[in-house]
Amino acid sequence: LLVDKGNHRHFMAKEIYEQPETISHTLSHYVDMGNEAVALREALPFDFADLSRLTISACGTASFAGAIAKYWFERHARLPVDVDVASEFRYREPPLEKGGLSLFISQSGETADTLAALRYCAGQGQYVASIVNVAESTIARESQVVFPTLCGPEIGVASTKALTAQLTALASLVIAAGVARGTLDRTREAELVRALVALPSAVSAALGTESQIVEISRRLSKARDVLYLGRGPMFPVAMEGALKLKEISYIHAEGYAAGELKHGPIALVDEAMPVIVVAPSDELMEKTLSNMQEVAARGGQIILITDEDGARAVGEGVAETIVIPKVESFVAPILAMIPVQLLAYHTAVMMGTDVDQPRNLAKSVTVE
Ligand code: G6P
Repeated sequence: LLVDKGNHRHFMAKEIYEQPETISHTLSHYVDMGNEAVALREALPFDFADLSRLTISACGTASFAGAIAKYWFERHARLPVDVDVASEFRYREPPLEKGGLSLFISQSGETADTLAALRYCAGQGQYVASIVNVAESTIARESQVVFPTLCGPEIGVASTKALTAQLTALASLVIAAGVARGTLDRTREAELVRALVALPSAVSAALGTESQIVEISRRLSKARDVLYLGRGPMFPVAMEGALKLKEISYIHAEGYAAGELKHGPIALVDEAMPVIVVAPSDELMEKTLSNMQEVAARGGQIILITDEDGARAVGEGVAETIVIPKVESFVAPILAMIPVQLLAYHTAVMMGTDVDQPRNLAKSVTVE
């Protein structure tokens, strides 16, 4: 293999640290920076303006990219989205409208369930598009249009830079769809493109939380269970945070929609349970803060991931606040991935697990 760890202890750390570059490289494929516009190079077999529905399938971390994209497509392009894990989607055999678009997201391009979902959709007469990192993969070959992620080979089993590159490509597609569907005007398109262009430097700044995160990870490494909460596009960030922690530290973790706290997980909250709340300042933050208060009232140890404005808005009861830069809400879920990746990574290092090759997991799941 021509890839090495550089100065890092693990591939995962190297890949986390590469993200300012890999996001920027992927973005340069999709946007015309000079004109602050999205410029897709791929010839589209469909027209975003004519679509009535978008169906997204993927597995694992890639499925959370799809879950975030649902919020984006629905809000910015007014395009209804169904998103499901491929292993459920394929056996559900959902009815699909003729002329609809199916989109598959995969780092390896070889995941068996995602490929089977793709073949099902192609058989139903859908337009088939994919976002893949491995250009010569089966999923890429069987797609009518491939939107690449340009993050280079990802070696760590737990996906990091591939996810943020997938989100960068998806965000670009959302803007293209919004422009085509007339839901984003020229001014708003330029604003969203600028937010994407500014993202790599915000990611670099967010990586600066590492020393604080090392300290917090000491506490997480003693926990039996960890709860992650988020609302809106931060809900999939919470699920990804929990998945990362489970995968590499083997600590049980769950990602939950903050509004669902009262419907179950609050019963688990006690002094021993860290609760990681992902809530940058936006129109939903106040609601999430009130969920946080419910956790604090039960003695839960809150670790809040927010921005400067969010940090000012919180009152008592927060054990730790991880402050990341304030960015346009559109790109905030991409930025929020950085602290959850670092939390999982450092907790796993403290636990002494095999971070790059966690037990029982494979980089690419080519069996069903
Ligand atoms: C495995 C990997 C995950 C990955 C998932 C989907 O479970 O360990 O990191 O997210 O497969 O893989 P894909 O290559 O389709 O993105």
